[in-house]
Amino acid sequence: MTSGRRQKIKLTRPPAARRGADAAPATAERYAEVRPAQLPPHLDGLHALTKPGVRGFPGLDDAQALLAQVMRKDRVRGDVLDLTAMGGVLGSLAGVTLRAVDGSAAALTALTAAGLEPLAAVPGDALTDRWPERARTVVLVLAGDRGNAYAQAQVAWAHANTPPGGTLYVAGDRDKGFDRYVRAAGAAFGTGETVARDGGMRVAKLVRRPGPTPPYPEPETYETHGVTVVGRPGVFSAARLDRASALLLDTLDSLDVNGRRVLDLGCGAGVIGAWAARRGAHATLVDADLQSVRSAQATLTASGVDGEVIHSDVDAALEGRTFDVILTNPPFHVGRGVVLDVAREFIAAAARRLTPGGTVVVVANDPLPYEAALQALGPVTELARAGGFKVLQATRR
Ligand SMILES: C[S@@+](CC[C@H](N)C(=O)[O-])C[C@H]1O[C@@H](n2cnc3c(N)ncnc32)[C@H](O)[C@@H]1O
Repeated sequence: MTSGRRQKIKLTRPPAARRGADAAPATAERYAEVRPAQLPPHLDGLHALTKPGVRGFPGLDDAQALLAQVMRKDRVRGDVLDLTAMGGVLGSLAGVTLRAVDGSAAALTALTAAGLEPLAAVPGDALTDRWPERARTVVLVLAGDRGNAYAQAQVAWAHANTPPGGTLYVAGDRDKGFDRYVRAAGAAFGTGETVARDGGMRVAKLVRRPGPTPPYPEPETYETHGVTVVGRPGVFSAARLDRASALLLDTLDSLDVNGRRVLDLGCGAGVIGAWAARRGAHATLVDADLQSVRSAQATLTASGVDGEVIHSDVDAALEGRTFDVILTNPPFHVGRGVVLDVAREFIAAAARRLTPGGTVVVVANDPLPYEAALQALGPVTELARAGGFKVLQATRR
């Protein structure tokens, strides 16, 4: 993803075995395909499903993998509430009945395919309608990459859903604040300690004592480009507008969207869609992350505009909808390099969803290679280039 700070981007070549497939144009079938996750040898006997867009794809998230190892060693049995279920690997532990919860549309697709009947929820949601009795074991992978406020909300949510005397297994990355978050969790839960380490990954085990659940952080609110953005914890552009998104909106100032069907693909807090709605567009806002969907709904309301917000893995939930204009700041993941399968699918979705003569406008960090994929759609124009970002427009033939 782009962020407020200038990032150094290293493009990695996909592994040799995947290179041929990655070079081919993205198709909905290949992106949508749910497949077995590649598990490390020490998790022999366990299984999970995955697809592009699920954390850890094509394998397991490293923290979740360590969690599975620890829980297998501890011989955890019975009902387990997994607040970050991803591909559902913990459901394959012997004797475990998994209550699978996730906010990612891609993960929910994989979990559904695995027959786990997942619940789509975000930190703070009550789970009692679905499971009136709390499970004695709760697990959580901290998303340290989504910032302090989100991790705090995750810990509060885990606390609210662990009965006194129940156990929380919490996993995360030492370099993404794990020790700090576990100390905060320890203050609420009572006893607890780190029980496993593997590289930078950590797992801690906490037993809850009676006592109040820590407060959930409030959303941030700010004004920009004529709209009021409500940024819930962990959402992109939650506290201030991303510089790339700002360049996109500044560049589009003269674009007439009045009366046109506009899709904000990967809407985050919903600033682009709300901006379009304020200028008279029929706006549809889409995000795979349920927390972002909630944020975008709040942004539309706070900005006094109408729009449709859809929880969807790229365009999977858009049914027959087509658009005159698609605006996007696509995600990419920085860590061991850049993973572009989701971003490529954004452009493939634009090709599927644009009406002839319709236009897609993409903002991206300079080195990201979107031009070729856009050219397949129609003629490409570079509308702006500044501050390490470029704004590209393609008009569908
Ligand atoms: C770079 S952010 C842009 C957010 C927002 N448009 C802005 O400009 O502030 C990319 C967004 O894409 C969303 N996203 C990631 N994977 C997705 C997927 N498979 N389908 C839909 N949205 C996705 C992320 O949750 C994130 O909100």
